[in-house]
Amino acid sequence: MKCFKMIMAILILACGAFLAYIYSGVADVAATAPDGPVTRWVLGTIRERSISTHVKNIQVPPLTDPKMVETGFVRYNKMCAECHLAPGTGTSAIRAGLNPRPPVLARVVSHTPPAELFWIIKNGIKMTGMPAWGQTQDDASIWTIVAFLEKLHTMTPAEYRAMQKEAAQAADIHTTSVANNPPTKS
Ligand code: HEC
Repeated sequence: MKCFKMIMAILILACGAFLAYIYSGVADVAATAPDGPVTRWVLGTIRERSISTHVKNIQVPPLTDPKMVETGFVRYNKMCAECHLAPGTGTSAIRAGLNPRPPVLARVVSHTPPAELFWIIKNGIKMTGMPAWGQTQDDASIWTIVAFLEKLHTMTPAEYRAMQKEAAQAADIHTTSVANNPPTKS
């Protein structure tokens, strides 16, 4: 009984100290304030456990079709490279200011299974700056980005630039043909 009372007293004191910490305002929410090792461990472990639990029923489609990879490239270049960089590019203003800093995907994605990549891209990661692209992109579009990511870690800066050039030319041809053949009124 004595032992139970002591545990209760310790728990009440710990809760009081925790609330005092929250209300005191000493916690620094600035993105420039580095997280301590305990915060990093707690957030990192929650993240890893959560993702591996949530990906269990995801069926991975074939990802090797070159057309799919090309479409995925266009999306990556437009929606992701600003934060996650691309072969041959230095850091960006947005990436430099984010905490946690977006990882350079060309270096990390080869260790991440496609189902996890799909889940992360679709759902985003809370409190990190990683958006949930599933709010605006359908599953098929997200799989094209995964297909491209499967190739990203083997790409040289020259190969990435060549894909950028091809995509820009294709966009030009599309714009010109739309301009020359304006849609007719029905
Ligand atoms: C505004 C910045 C921003 C943009 C734009 C963005 N991300 Fe992220 N992303 C992040 C941040 C920050 C993290 C790190 C999250 C963490 O530490 O848990 C992240 C994490 C990831 C991860 C997990 C990497 C790992 O460590 O395994 C993947 C995969 C990813 N993003 C893919 C994408 C893709 C694909 C796009 C484009 C469709 C994209 N992101 C666009 C900020 C961004």
